[in-house]
Amino acid sequence: MKHLFTIPLALMVAVPAMADMSGETYSRWVDDKGETRLPENYRTTWTHLGSWVVADEKAPGKGFHDVYTQPEAAAYYRQHGRFPDGAVLVKEIRTLQTGFKTTGPAQWAGENAVWFVMIKDDKRRFKNHPHWAEGWGWAMYEASNPALNTSKSFTETCQSCHIPARATDWVFVEGYPTLKP
Ligand code: HEC
Repeated sequence: MKHLFTIPLALMVAVPAMADMSGETYSRWVDDKGETRLPENYRTTWTHLGSWVVADEKAPGKGFHDVYTQPEAAAYYRQHGRFPDGAVLVKEIRTLQTGFKTTGPAQWAGENAVWFVMIKDDKRRFKNHPHWAEGWGWAMYEASNPALNTSKSFTETCQSCHIPARATDWVFVEGYPTLKP
């Protein structure tokens, strides 16, 4: 029993919190076959990591992008420099609105358009599954039917565009000040 008293209190608290987050992710947003669902309430209850604006009319990613994760996942990243099992990244893309404000020529976010979702999977739960690869689950939902994952597969829909971020576990971390310690 003696060793119990030597475990720092912070560790005893942190471990169950992480287990809860992963348990919630894999019961609420992922079913036992690896099919995923867009998390609700991320905008009001999760941590905002950062924003991107892609303004070119012809660009594939045109719009206002906001990226969110669970508060526990952001805290873990700040401490360990990586996302924990069960971390969910939601990239919400909204249409770009433009106009003159008293600040100057402004751009801001309008209607929902698309969501991109990545779900951290340290355990490689779903082998040979089209939407699970490289330690993440990959999904895409469109505003016309947010219940349907319209990504064909990781390799067909996501991989080539994310290769520049491969060295940072496929995440474009340079855009997320909230992850800095
Ligand atoms: C046209 C290229 C492109 C495609 C296709 C693409 N991504 Fe991305 N993705 C990016 C870039 C670049 C960023 C960061 C900058 C931005 O949003 O403009 C990003 C950011 C993200 C983010 C926010 C976290 C991060 O990695 O920075 C998620 C989540 C995401 N993508 C998931 C996906 C998923 C899932 C797919 C496939 C269904 C996918 N993406 C397809 C280029 C792409």
